[in-house]
Amino acid sequence: MAPKVTKICCIGAGYVGGPTCAVIAVKCPHIKVTIVDLNADRIAAWNSPDFAVPIYEPGLVDVVRKARGRNLFFSTDVDGAIEEADLIFVSVNTPTKKSGVGAGSAADLNYVELATRRIANVANSSKIVVEKSTVPCRTAESMRTILEANSKPNCRFDILSNPEFLAEGTAINDLFSPDRVLIGSLQTPEGKAASDALVEVYANWVPTKQILTVGLWSSELSKLAANAMLAQRISSINALSAICEATGANIDEVSHAIGYDSRVGPKFLKASVGFGGSCFQKDILNLVYLSESLHLPEVAAYWRQVVEMNEYQKRRFSKRVVDTLFNTITGKKIAVLGFAFKADTGDTRESAAITLIKDFQSERALVNIYDPQVAHSQIWADLQEASPQASLDSIKKQVTICGSALEACKDAEAVVIATEWKEFLDIDWEEAYKHMNKPAFVFDGRLLVDADKLRKIGFKVTTIGRA
Ligand code: NAD
Ligand code: UGA
Repeated sequence: MAPKVTKICCIGAGYVGGPTCAVIAVKCPHIKVTIVDLNADRIAAWNSPDFAVPIYEPGLVDVVRKARGRNLFFSTDVDGAIEEADLIFVSVNTPTKKSGVGAGSAADLNYVELATRRIANVANSSKIVVEKSTVPCRTAESMRTILEANSKPNCRFDILSNPEFLAEGTAINDLFSPDRVLIGSLQTPEGKAASDALVEVYANWVPTKQILTVGLWSSELSKLAANAMLAQRISSINALSAICEATGANIDEVSHAIGYDSRVGPKFLKASVGFGGSCFQKDILNLVYLSESLHLPEVAAYWRQVVEMNEYQKRRFSKRVVDTLFNTITGKKIAVLGFAFKADTGDTRESAAITLIKDFQSERALVNIYDPQVAHSQIWADLQEASPQASLDSIKKQVTICGSALEACKDAEAVVIATEWKEFLDIDWEEAYKHMNKPAFVFDGRLLVDADKLRKIGFKVTTIGRA
């Protein structure tokens, strides 16, 4: 019989752990959910009296407001929450390794291992341990080995894989109405019973036909594969955008025509300045590393090309800006609108804007940045990380962060749209034009604005995927 889950602990109060477990708390009022993190500032923000939660995500505050203090708790007491829980989500970060074996492609599993060891050391009763983090195939086996080698007598651990498919900016909708929930377990009676216990949690709001139960390794690999295939669609359409620019075809029309085939479908075919975000590149590189470790070099090269195409797209875009501005942007002011990796998030991890701005900096341009959500301190931290040799003072001589799009455009030669924030559609473009140097250019890296309308005002407009 499936054990009954009454207390859940989630280790990691980040972009995934926070929203995911807050939604579980809202949908399962009979379950006590405690989300813990070592980062005391993050936990303090989740607990802030005015709900100034640490992540910008539409709808998230309402969810936290409904459940916090009722059956949803945020805490730094990791051990206490582990001890009382029947089921523990491990939702810690798994970044790409920066040094050692596999540096630059393998996942750094240090945080997963530390969390696993903590569970083993603290647990006095049996637990279901759920991998929520995205991990390489067969990580569950390492977790089980660590847990079994360190457990107390009469404690048994069942390991499940339950990867998360939410996208930032739409996380709450994605969690309320997921396309599917994937649960992987060992195909033993105990493994299946643990899986049933987690199915029962999700079944409080997800139709059971959308809860897929599979083997552990399939579940782990499916997560990497899903991200790789989504990113591959973007790199494919971006590769075609280069052909459009050279031939006079229009990438929006091409995407529309391709996506009309019901076998392909219309989603994720929007050409852009390149995909960003914390996961696509990391997870593909993880798949590349896995393929190389399995002596499958052709498979590794196939997936690596998706990342290389993305790098090419970003480089191609900044070169087009320089070429169009008469082959030099030295001393010219460029307004970059958007710094987040996509709209409706304040997250900047791997944002294409960072690469573009770095390219403009190396061409000795002056850059004005405006983003409606990203904290200024985050922008400075990202620019500093991108140019570790430069001092922050020298970066600040070239870069200014502005309070509005119009302010960013003042005295600029060109506007670069790097993130598809809807508010950029409502900019008073006539006013922007009035205060820019002439000729005034717009480079739309997101197929966002109405190019004909801007041309009528007087702008010279360059759009991804159009000649
Ligand atoms: P994040 O960096 O926002 O959050 C991870 C949190 O874990 C941090 O707050 C960190 O302090 C905490 N942490 C690390 N080690 C800990 C420990 N031993 N004990 C307690 N807390 C600890 O990361 P994220 O974006 O939430 O991603 C988490 C995982 O989910 C990653 O594997 C990622 O690939 C995957 N994922 C992310 C997304 C996304 O949209 N961000 C979507 C699906 C899957
Ligand atoms: C992505 C996946 O969509 C999620 O399913 C997955 O859970 C998540 O990664 C993860 O594992 O972290 P996310 O990165 O939050 O979610 O956002 P996406 O909407 O996938 O966008 C990723 C990047 O691709 C953004 O920079 C976006 O602007 C870009 N993109 C997306 C395009 O350039 N064109 C498109 O058609 C779609």
